[in-house]
Amino acid sequence: MLILGIDTSCDDTSAAIVRNGREILSNIVSSQIAIHQRYGGVVPELASRRHLEMIWPTTDEALKQAKIELKQIDAISVCYGPGLIGSLLVGVCFAKALSYASSIPLIAVNHLEGHIFSAWLLDEPPEFPFLALIVSGGHTSLVRVDDFGKYTEIGKTRDDAAGEAYDKVAKLLGLSYPGGPIIDRLSEHTDQDIGFPRPMLNEGFDMSFSGLKTAIRLYVQEQIEKGRLDDEQIAIVCRSFQEAVTDVLVKKTERAAKKLGLKRIVLSGGVSANKRLRQKMTEMADSLGFKVYIPPVNLCTDNAAMIAAAGYFYFQHRIFAPDDLTATAYLPLGPS
Ligand code: KG4
Ligand code: ZN
Repeated sequence: MLILGIDTSCDDTSAAIVRNGREILSNIVSSQIAIHQRYGGVVPELASRRHLEMIWPTTDEALKQAKIELKQIDAISVCYGPGLIGSLLVGVCFAKALSYASSIPLIAVNHLEGHIFSAWLLDEPPEFPFLALIVSGGHTSLVRVDDFGKYTEIGKTRDDAAGEAYDKVAKLLGLSYPGGPIIDRLSEHTDQDIGFPRPMLNEGFDMSFSGLKTAIRLYVQEQIEKGRLDDEQIAIVCRSFQEAVTDVLVKKTERAAKKLGLKRIVLSGGVSANKRLRQKMTEMADSLGFKVYIPPVNLCTDNAAMIAAAGYFYFQHRIFAPDDLTATAYLPLGPS
């Protein structure tokens, strides 16, 4: 059983071939970082134009690398939201056309569901139920997953997503885009911690990162005025910010897992590529006897293999996309 996965939700054009929902035969990600870097963030219009150029070559490459012909594909699984509307439309229209022209069934997958099911690409996937922390550039949510299609949001950010905060803090420091991997790397250059606030650390499951971002902006302005923002200071700010964000993410996850009595935790989304977050989450889980499932870094950031992995569940339940499927920028994680 072969699924062609497609994801064009933001600034990566991705196509993948996955066998039986678990085995990756190919997972091609055509990155647009070089295009958006000079603007310090994703420019939606440029993103959709580049998707248009890259969607065929990327899909072609995925088939070639997997040594599979289109006629062998059993289903096409496409991400239809949430994300940038122009970007999503390219993937959805392409997948619909391919499905129609080749009589291959079409499956529509929520991007967040894709991140959750990236854990099925691990050698040992989790059993239901589990707690998922989805932490990316657009979302930061704690979700109770009872089964395929049974998702309950337990907590979420009330303002910026954690990845967005990483990218904005990097911009404040004059670093490049995307900021997450750069802050992750620079943080290793120091062990100093300024002690920025850990917002809402001791209340409930919701999170907030915009106040932390403001605290850092004020601190950075002060350093610039005093002529002190050198490489060492930048590394200290990076580490201090990262310690605050990861403390909040891990603490909220721990509280939710305890409260819900869930012993399995899935960490997913672009920010889960973060070394410090992976380490702290694993330490917390080990100390409490929880098991944590963290996909390898290339499956944390956006990729089409995770869309194919989620699509496999739809295929098994015979849930296919309607003929009038369209892209949806705002798409909460609901029942399938
Ligand atoms: O899941 P993703 O690829 O796209 C969205 O669905 O948003 O996540 C992208 C986000 C960006 O904000 C990026 O800075 C962040 O993930 N990110 C990281 C790391 N790698 C990517 N954040 C922290 N540490 C990293 N190593
Ligand atoms: Zn994503």
